[in-house]
Amino acid sequence: MTMFAGINGFEYASRDEIAAKQRERMKWSLRHAYDNVPFYKQLFDEKGVHPDDLHSLSDLSKFPFTVKKDLRDNYPFGLFAVPREKLSRIHASSGTTGKPTVVGYTKQDIDVWAEAIARSIRAAGGRAGDMVHVAYGYGLFTGGLGAHYGAERAGCAVVPASGGATDSQIQLIQDFKPRIIMVTPSYMLALADGFDKAGIDPRTTSLEIGIHGAEPWTEEMRKEIERRFDIKAVDIYGLSEIMGPGVASEFAETQDGLTIWEDLFYPEIIDPETGEVLPDGEEGELVFTSLCKEAFPIIRYRTRDLTRLLPGSLSNMRRMARIFGRSDDMMIIRGVNVFPTQIEEIICKDERLTPHYFCEIRRPKVMDELTVVAEAKPEFSDDHTRSHIALELKKNIKNLCGVSTKVDIREPGGVPRSSGKAKRVFDYRNLSDE
Ligand code: DLL
Repeated sequence: MTMFAGINGFEYASRDEIAAKQRERMKWSLRHAYDNVPFYKQLFDEKGVHPDDLHSLSDLSKFPFTVKKDLRDNYPFGLFAVPREKLSRIHASSGTTGKPTVVGYTKQDIDVWAEAIARSIRAAGGRAGDMVHVAYGYGLFTGGLGAHYGAERAGCAVVPASGGATDSQIQLIQDFKPRIIMVTPSYMLALADGFDKAGIDPRTTSLEIGIHGAEPWTEEMRKEIERRFDIKAVDIYGLSEIMGPGVASEFAETQDGLTIWEDLFYPEIIDPETGEVLPDGEEGELVFTSLCKEAFPIIRYRTRDLTRLLPGSLSNMRRMARIFGRSDDMMIIRGVNVFPTQIEEIICKDERLTPHYFCEIRRPKVMDELTVVAEAKPEFSDDHTRSHIALELKKNIKNLCGVSTKVDIREPGGVPRSSGKAKRVFDYRNLSDE
């Protein structure tokens, strides 16, 4: 237990202190997984590695990866390292296919997680006494409850609004006057529309700080949120397999990428093709090893998220650049790789469009066909202007992404709003194959 003491404030430790803590905790975590989860024992044994083989942090690369399928194959509790009686929480994510992936927490895990999110809230400029409106979904999703416990830990009063019921969210924000909101960036923009519809200028609310994550978003989207609400918007990252939100978070002062709370979660970047570890600064797939999770230790988990590691700035802990996409979200259109975030950047730069959009992929004959569906602002919504915008957008996408697309510019309200994570890609290729 003492090993995890002193988490509070450790974000300002020196590089040496951080590395020493990581080494100590990594040894513990590998040993804990090996001794208590038969899956890891078998995995390590097959690869001919043992927790005692870890002498320095770079030795981690000798150990095998864990992937999402391993969680599914061990559904529901096969990867847990503690008996049922020690559990204090279960979360799960449904994913698009098959069984959900299930994760578990001991009381101490919940404590560490709350502290990681409290750090994130402090980094965003939050302080004890603030009121935090949590509009991430509550339930099996880690967003709502994660943010909730973290905000309480930071000494804030929480409004557990959860996602959806936009009119009521607007009423609550008007009446309770929170300083901070925690919500997905796409739903934040749906809230902005909701305020407009109610005849309230979103810039006049009490909100000063937005803590947004759970889905990829762009600098252009940040600017749009900051402009519409007149707030500071920061990025927060996490995934249920590693803990939930609060694995990494951005400092409001610098807004220069997400500081990874790397005394708790050890990051690596690998080449997704070869699995080789890449040096800091190079782009690749993010891999995490939990350093102090009891119920659900996870070793070298391949997140499929693409980014690069950067040196620390306000903290000595390393940062990661904004996630520009997930390898599963990458659209390969006639051989060209396109990420929804690239499309988002172009759409958000066009003053005549709202920031709401999605992409559809079809294969009517043999060729893939990408349709970008976006939405005109009311003052640009007549038929003639919309077809003009469509032509320009098509040209801009071709120039920037190198791929020809169809573009469908809808009338205001024509793109459905998300109340949680926005789904950006609808792939109908397999359906049209049949
Ligand atoms: O989305 C946890 C979370 C909740 C993070 C609230 C931040 C705020 P999962 O449902 O397991 O957990 O989904 C994790 O979402 O692997 C990324 O692909 C994506 N993701 C999360 N945060 C960001 C972010 C939560 N800031 C998956 N930027 C991750 C880009 C993000 N993608």
